[in-house]
Amino acid sequence: MVSTKTEIAGFEFDNCLMNAAGVACMTIEELEEVKQSSAGTFVTKTATLEARQGNPEPRYHDVPLGSINSMGLPNHGLDYYLNYLLELQDKEPDRTFFLSLVGMSPEETHTILKKVQESDFRGLTELNLSCPNVPGKPQIAYDFETTDKILSEVFAYFTKPLGIKLPPYFDIVHFDQAAAIFNQYPLKFVNCVNSVGNGLYIEDESVVIRPKNGFGGIGGEYIKPTALANVHAFYQRLKPEIQIIGTGGVLTGRDAFEHILCGASMVEIGTTLHKEGVAAFERITNELKEIMAEKGYESLEDFRGKLKYID
Ligand code: DHB
Repeated sequence: MVSTKTEIAGFEFDNCLMNAAGVACMTIEELEEVKQSSAGTFVTKTATLEARQGNPEPRYHDVPLGSINSMGLPNHGLDYYLNYLLELQDKEPDRTFFLSLVGMSPEETHTILKKVQESDFRGLTELNLSCPNVPGKPQIAYDFETTDKILSEVFAYFTKPLGIKLPPYFDIVHFDQAAAIFNQYPLKFVNCVNSVGNGLYIEDESVVIRPKNGFGGIGGEYIKPTALANVHAFYQRLKPEIQIIGTGGVLTGRDAFEHILCGASMVEIGTTLHKEGVAAFERITNELKEIMAEKGYESLEDFRGKLKYID
């Protein structure tokens, strides 16, 4: 009776939970494991045009309240993920998957997106505008002028369903300004949020990851209030055709419930998936269904976006 099925850009998913890009999605083996779990779908590791080694290890560290990472976009290159997805869409025509990508420059982003456009790929594309970890490369979506320019250029040729992965914003004026830009484009979704960039975690007297003297993106319990604020701020501001994917601080069914209450149509799990493995999907789905049943909700539509305010 209780269902957690959802829909993004007209594509249906049996479950609203999936991995967050970066976790359990670097190799085909990892993607297959997510695909065969209770997750509704998967997103690939963010692909660049060429394969990358990423930053030196150690570069990901689980900590009691979350995680810190400075991976530096290690990935097998666009063709690896695109070729896999092209085969998969014929083998499993009833399911839809996400391809995450970004170029190391705006030019490379266009080269990649043109390759996807010219391919037979029928899935969803997520343009990652928020990697915080490549030395010397700022998070694109903190630069509104560049973001606007990239999107205007992209939509001159890209006609497949496209969304963007955003960094967290921390100011109401930034929510207003970012939403005003995104509303000008035929985006299908925004994904809020990527890691909270450039935190520092210390054990005894030392940092815990090698790159950038220990600075890295923060995920997990630390970031849920920021993630929920971003999901809800964009839910309030974006035109209804742009759906929201909620990512950040999902450890339990209650956390997923809160993301949906804030307006999310899909909920991604990163740090918790890294800590627990794919069994996290079944556990969190069951917890979410239990909360829905207690409240008499049968579908996500019964409570999505219906966060209550105090007058
Ligand atoms: C990496 C980290 C991110 O948070 C992201 O969005 C993209 C890439 C990384 O360091 O690989």
